[in-house]
Amino acid sequence: MKLHHIIEAQQFDVPTLDKLFEISKKMETVVQEGGTSDFHNRIMSTLFYEPSTRTRFSFETAMHRLGGRVISTENAREFSSVSKGETLEDTIRILNGYADVIVMRHNEVGAARRAAAVSAVPVINAGDGAGQHPTQALLDLYTIRKEIGKINGLRIAMVGDLAQGRTVRSLAYLLSKYEDVRMYFVAPQLLRMKEDILEHLRERKVEYVEEEELAKVLPEVDVVYQTRIQKERFGDRIADYEQCRGVYIIDESCLRLMRPDSIIMHPLPRLDEIRMEVDNDRRAAYFRQAQNGLYVRMALLSQVLG
Ligand code: CP
Repeated sequence: MKLHHIIEAQQFDVPTLDKLFEISKKMETVVQEGGTSDFHNRIMSTLFYEPSTRTRFSFETAMHRLGGRVISTENAREFSSVSKGETLEDTIRILNGYADVIVMRHNEVGAARRAAAVSAVPVINAGDGAGQHPTQALLDLYTIRKEIGKINGLRIAMVGDLAQGRTVRSLAYLLSKYEDVRMYFVAPQLLRMKEDILEHLRERKVEYVEEEELAKVLPEVDVVYQTRIQKERFGDRIADYEQCRGVYIIDESCLRLMRPDSIIMHPLPRLDEIRMEVDNDRRAAYFRQAQNGLYVRMALLSQVLG
């Protein structure tokens, strides 16, 4: 397997995913042993135009555990020459002279593709606005395999901000590659899953159901994938945000409706959409999910740099 730019979930096929997850599993052992020096002469640049905790820290930790080095700006809009008017393309051309891989989060849909178009070194999309977040979807899939033991035949509910949520978009693309998967899209009318994803699923003959009532689907599914209603994506549509916030909250009453062998996932950060009382239930998989991001990102970096 040789990977270069990582821009969208559609670019992966099942054999590549299988290989990537096999390497991710090995990376768990590498971390337990304190890391490796295999990539000691390689440099990763993290260029983040939007805030992040998990994605940036896990990529940076991954590079350190692989023995590499990191150059970073955590707020590129303020602390890079973008603030003086430099274009994304020029910024990427300059980083090509310094780094062996660029991990970028941007506020605009399509920014990762623009960056890749002018970059000789691999560009990894760490989230582009409301577009995609492919490395999150990879770690989500790895988590599902680890926790449930299968992906074929999966029943999954994606809940909350599906219209503006890049994680659920990328995850839907990845899951569509597997057999007999059924997706339940649980969202208020304003935040329904976008038509481009629904059309993709119809083309691939993947079963999906749109539903507004969370309680109806909880007993049906293996995975409840909760998401945050993202205030920052509403702009000045404050009334729309207020109408949607708090509409789906996972609490003890939801746990009673869920199957004992099911799990709850969330890309995080969460606000109040999963009550803290749920954290101690063994079905709460979201902190394990975030940890898996380290192993999957180590595997990805080892392949794009290898
Ligand atoms: N899941 C995720 O992308 O988290 P961060 O925004 O903290 O990176």
